[in-house]
Amino acid sequence: MYKSKITGMGMYVPENEITNRDLTALMDTSHEWILERTGIESRRHIKKGDGNTTATMGVKASRIAIERSGIDKNDIDLILFATLSPDYYFPGSGVIVQKELDIPTCPAMDIRNQCSGFIYALSTADQFIKTGMYKNILIIGSENHSGGLDMTTRGRGVSVIFGDGAGAVVLSRSSSEETGILSTHLHSEGKYAEELSLIGPSTRRWVPEIMAANDAEDTSYYPYMNGQLVFKNAVVRFSEVIMEGLQENQMTPDQIDMLIPHQANLRISQFIQKKFGLTDDQVYNNIMRYGNTTAGSIPIAMTEAWEAGKIKSGDLVVLAAFGSGFTWGSALIRW
Ligand code: UT7
Repeated sequence: MYKSKITGMGMYVPENEITNRDLTALMDTSHEWILERTGIESRRHIKKGDGNTTATMGVKASRIAIERSGIDKNDIDLILFATLSPDYYFPGSGVIVQKELDIPTCPAMDIRNQCSGFIYALSTADQFIKTGMYKNILIIGSENHSGGLDMTTRGRGVSVIFGDGAGAVVLSRSSSEETGILSTHLHSEGKYAEELSLIGPSTRRWVPEIMAANDAEDTSYYPYMNGQLVFKNAVVRFSEVIMEGLQENQMTPDQIDMLIPHQANLRISQFIQKKFGLTDDQVYNNIMRYGNTTAGSIPIAMTEAWEAGKIKSGDLVVLAAFGSGFTWGSALIRW
């Protein structure tokens, strides 16, 4: 069996910064409420006409990741694109990245696992590398939330949380036995499928009927979240799946050098930090600046942490995510 390791990382967020105070002009909310409940101070939103889409932001992050990995783009054997906000209903965004990067015929596939999408994609890529099928895999997590949020008081429980952005990594076959991905752990619990969902654009409804209804009050086109249920499940599942990874590798929480949690809510990250007895330096958070970028959040945070010199060779890096599905997962990496 081969091992895989991350050889390059990149990120991109739109320039357009939306502060909590900017949101107060659109809905009944306050900087204090958002900060206290979520830790978020601002987020980035695509500006209409700035050329950014889920796929094109993914392309920008990918170009950086590919350059840092030192491989030629034509050496990419597979593109995995994690998102809940693809450019099109079909085809997926992976093939759009392929077109933009001008990579002729490698396979490209989208992973629809929301907040856990990047971990699911990383785990999928790891399996392909372990078996020897592929050597270099481009993994992207990217979201355009802002175009699909209800930016009125009606949608404030959801819309203040989410931001746009993309992260990408190149995962390559490793020649080292010691470094690279140690293990990944994935879970889903479909009984909660509708508790964090966007059900409007659905094949359960006939398109001609939806178009004929032309109903501006149809909130099914906006995301729905049972916030408290999601929060309660998140803190439990985050803890479990991190512990599962540590146990599989006969490790204990004090061996974690850097935890990079999906940036769902700073209060969730702080709960996990406390539970595992980690210091502020051992947990990387950037939700304060970007909000929750769903599949983009882990690769964005990992890229920033690495750029800031917070991830060093030999470190045990733990990634963990929870979100819609419900789905959750973790990855343990020896850097
Ligand atoms: O990445 C995917 C995973 N997602 C998560 O992990 C999110 C998990 N959930 C959460 O982070 C929290 O549930 C939220 C931050 C979304 C909401 O916090 P909460 O403490 O659960 O608030 P709530 O929904 O129970 O609402 C409390 C009050 C309500 O008012 P009343 O009924 O008490 O009068 C809401 O209407 O706060 C009100 N509210 C707001 N007020 C000001 C809801 N959203 C806002 C808002 N600004 N943006």
